[in-house]
Amino acid sequence: MSFNPRTFRNALGCFPTGVTIVTTLADDGSPIGVTISSFTSLSLSPPLVLFCLGDQSSGLDAFLRAGHFAVNVLSDEQRDLSDRFASRKEHKWKDVAFEAGTGGVPILADCVANFECSVVDVHQGGDHRIFIGRVERMHYSETGKPLVYHRGDYAALTSGIE
Ligand SMILES: Cc1cc2nc3c(=O)[nH]c(=O)nc-3n(C[C@H](O)[C@H](O)[C@H](O)COP(=O)(O)O)c2cc1C
Repeated sequence: MSFNPRTFRNALGCFPTGVTIVTTLADDGSPIGVTISSFTSLSLSPPLVLFCLGDQSSGLDAFLRAGHFAVNVLSDEQRDLSDRFASRKEHKWKDVAFEAGTGGVPILADCVANFECSVVDVHQGGDHRIFIGRVERMHYSETGKPLVYHRGDYAALTSGIE
C-alpha cells in the first residue's frame, strides 16, 4: 500500500479525542503551553499519564529541561484557547488566567480537569517525544463538558445515543 500522510491523518481523525493544553515553565520562568490531543492514561498504580510532543515544537526544550508539566483538559467553552495554543503566536499567554501548580507549572483556570505531573521518562517515538508523567495532584469538575476533536474539527458531546 502506498503511504499517503494526508490519508493517514484523515484515518486518525476518525478517532475522537479530548483536547488539552500541556504546560510547563521555561528556565527563565516564562510559561510554555501547547495544544495536545495525544494525552492518554497509562497506569493506575503508579498513577501515570503520557502525551506526545512533535520534535518541531518550539516548547520542546522547555519540556525536556523542566521536571514537571501540567495537563489541562479543555471544556467546550475553550475552543479559542485551543486555537491559540496550537499556533506559534508570541502572545499565547495574553489575558490567560492561570495559577502556579507543582513545580511552578501553569494551571489553567476553568478546565474540566488539571493533572499536575512530574516527568518520569521521555522516549523518542518517530518524529515525536513521548513524555510520561507521574500525577502528583489533580482537580476535576463533576459537571464540566469537554471539548472534543474529531475529523479535524471541534465537536461537543451530546447526551445519549439515539
Ligand atoms: C486539536 C489539536 C491537537 C493537537 N495535538 C497535538 C499533539 O498531540 N502533539 C503535538 O505535538 N502537536 C499537537 N497539535 C499541534 C500543536 O498544537 C502545534 O504544532 C503548535 O503550534 C505547537 O506549538 P509550539 O510550536 O509553540 O510548541 C495539536 C493541534 C490541535 C489543534
